[in-house]
Amino acid sequence: MLLELDAVSKEFPTRGGPPARVMDRVSLDVRAGEFMAVLGPSGCGKSTLLQMAAGLLPVTSGTVRLAGRPVTAPPPEAVYVFQQYSRSLLPWRTVRDNVAFATEHRVGRKRARAAAEEPLAQVGLGGFGDHFPWQLSGGMQQRVAIARALAAEPAMLLMDEPFSAVDALTRLDLHALVLEICARRSLTVLLVTHDVEEAITLADRIAVLTPRPTTVAEVIEVGIDRPRDPVATRELPRFLELRHALLDRLMTRHG
Ligand SMILES: Nc1ncnc2c1ncn2[C@@H]1O[C@H](COP(=O)(O)OP(=O)(O)OP(=O)(O)O)[C@@H](O)[C@H]1O
Ligand SMILES: [Mg+2]
Repeated sequence: MLLELDAVSKEFPTRGGPPARVMDRVSLDVRAGEFMAVLGPSGCGKSTLLQMAAGLLPVTSGTVRLAGRPVTAPPPEAVYVFQQYSRSLLPWRTVRDNVAFATEHRVGRKRARAAAEEPLAQVGLGGFGDHFPWQLSGGMQQRVAIARALAAEPAMLLMDEPFSAVDALTRLDLHALVLEICARRSLTVLLVTHDVEEAITLADRIAVLTPRPTTVAEVIEVGIDRPRDPVATRELPRFLELRHALLDRLMTRHG
C-alpha cells in the first residue's frame, strides 16, 4: 500500500454549538501504481478527504500513512493538483517558470527551467514555454498545472476535480493525456470527482462515498483493460453497466 487511511474522522468547529462531524471513520487503501477514484455527491467531503491525505488539513481522529509513514505535513512524495487551475498558476510567471516552480527550490532556477521542457512536451505544450497562463485556454492552463505536478516527479498525484472547470471535449482530451501519462510512468493517483464517467474511464477502483457524515459506501473494481481510449471505453458493456449502477447508487441516496 502506498496510501493508507485508517478510520479517519473529521469534525469542524461550529459557532457556539457542538462540532460538525463531516467524515466518519473512513478507511481506504491505495496500492502503489494504482489509480483510485473517489466518487461522491456534492458537499460530502471529497476535498476534505483529499486535503487530509495530502497533509494539508489535520485529521480529527484516525491515521493517514504514505509509504508507511504517518502524514502530518505535505509529504515530498505527493503532489496536489487543484480544481481551479486559474488560481494555482502564477499569472506573473511564464508557463516555463510556472513548471520550474515545482523544482527550483531544490535545484535552482536555471536547472529547473531546463527540466521544465520535458513535462511541457509531454502535455503537448512544447512550444508554449514563453507564454503567460492568461494567454492560454482553460484546458491548456490545466495542462500546465499537470506538467508542473509531473516536474516534481512525484510517486503520487492527488487530484481534486481537476477537469471540472473545462468543457466536455477538452475534458476527454485531458482524460486521454492522463491515461497516457499513467501508462508511461508508474504513478499512483487518488482522484476526487463527482463525474461518474470520468471515474470509470480513468480508475482501477472507485470508492463511493455517502452523503455527510461521509463513510465509504463501497469500493468497486472497474475491470476494464488498459490501454484505454476515453472514447471507445464509453461504448463498452462494462462501462455502461458500471455507469448505471453508480448513477443509481448516487441518485437514490439523495432520496
Ligand atoms: N473549514 C471548514 N469549516 C467548516 N466546515 C467545513 C470546512 N471545510 C469544509 N466544511 C464542510 O465539510 C463538508 C465537506 O466539504 P468538502 O469541500 O470536502 O465537500 P466536497 O465533497 O469536496 O464538495 P464539492 O463536491 O462541492 O467539491 C461541507 O459540508 C462543508 O461545508
Ligand atoms: Mg470539493
